[in-house]
Amino acid sequence: MKTLSIKRTLLLAATVFSVYQPVLAAPVLVDTDADTVTLAAGHPSLKKWLLPDTPPAPPDNLSTPERVKLGEMLFFDPRLSGTGQVTCVSCHLPERGWSDGLPTSVRFLGEVMAVASPTIVNLGYNSIYMWDGRQPTLEKQGVGGQGVKADINAGMTHFGFKDGVHLTRLAKVPGYVELFEKAYPGQGITRETVAKAIAAFERSVISNNSPFDRWLRGDKDAIDESQQRGFALFIDPARANCSVCHWAPNFTDNGFHNVGLKSFGASKPDLGRYKQRPVRLMRGAFKTPTLRDVGLTAPYFHDGSATLLRDVLKHYARGGDDHSNLSPNMHALALSEQDMDDLEAFLHALTTSNKPYVYPLLPN
Ligand code: HEC
Ligand code: HEC
Repeated sequence: MKTLSIKRTLLLAATVFSVYQPVLAAPVLVDTDADTVTLAAGHPSLKKWLLPDTPPAPPDNLSTPERVKLGEMLFFDPRLSGTGQVTCVSCHLPERGWSDGLPTSVRFLGEVMAVASPTIVNLGYNSIYMWDGRQPTLEKQGVGGQGVKADINAGMTHFGFKDGVHLTRLAKVPGYVELFEKAYPGQGITRETVAKAIAAFERSVISNNSPFDRWLRGDKDAIDESQQRGFALFIDPARANCSVCHWAPNFTDNGFHNVGLKSFGASKPDLGRYKQRPVRLMRGAFKTPTLRDVGLTAPYFHDGSATLLRDVLKHYARGGDDHSNLSPNMHALALSEQDMDDLEAFLHALTTSNKPYVYPLLPN
């Protein structure tokens, strides 16, 4: 009895002690999902932001090292293009976060495309593709076409997918014949196997070890205080409210929103998702992009209208420019310069270090 009460007293003392240590107490807030989140490295409430190690793949195209390797070669091979001069990597460069650094992409012969090249990082975690969501899977994206006008078809027409030039060309390369046989036994070199291999490669392009990821896993020094404050702003519905669209874990809701870009106010604006789903809310709505590796993919937005991350933040702070069909989740935000510094620092914490990429050797 006596020992018990001593224990109790000690326990009480310990509780009081911990209550009286406000410096050690981690901030707690209710996020845009109405979940209570404790802002401490490795805290279980942060788990939803951790990506699964491997993204899901369809049963008829599970990832194997042979498929990924073949897909990587195809991604880097100009023989895949109709002209024999363009590669996927012309517009999705590893050193630019798998984007191209241009406001909107430029095709072969200098034709400027209507939209920016999105990153291919972490695409395997997403469930809908292209700025207007017209492709449901990576495999379908790879075969291209789908009857959409060529100018928004991601350079695919120049890849000769329609006339099969690339298939004849690849079939003449003994190295490819062997590699396709190993990756897709008995299936040959077809539009489908080319697209499948590329999709398998794309699923292997993963960013899941940024400073933010390491912090989620428990490394308390992985991000600094400013970045931590930025994360708090990001998920706080009463502050920056970013995660209402840029959801856990891949910073996208796979949804479409009109964020009030100036270009929507121009005559004959790009209607975005509306072209696929003609409901009013979707006019000028584009897919929420992932923000992982965002430090590498400037300029920003589908029209490349924001040069720097700071320009993106200022855009959100003023609640967008064109209000004619603005998402109900967009409104002006009361953000100080310090808040914007913190948000910007947080966005950089989502970026993995840009290691030089070893280009694959192509078969002959
Ligand atoms: C001329 C530049 C260019 C080339 C070459 C190019 N792309 Fe793209 N890519 C783009 C643009 C621009 C978009 C966005 C188009 C849209 O949404 O309308 C895009 C979109 C994509 C997407 C969808 C990404 C997402 O977030 O939804 C994937 C996947 C992709 N490209 C893979 C490829 C592959 C594979 C190749 C080679 C076969 C390729 N790209 C060649 C510019 C290019
Ligand atoms: C209403 C939903 C919504 C909210 C709220 C929102 N975003 Fe976005 N975000 C999007 C969509 C959609 C795009 C692409 C828009 C486009 O290009 O037309 C985007 C684009 C971006 C981009 C550019 C990425 C790229 O690759 O081009 C960044 C950076 C970004 N958002 C950060 C933020 C931050 C930081 C906040 C909070 C201050 C925020 N977003 C709030 C939906 C949203």
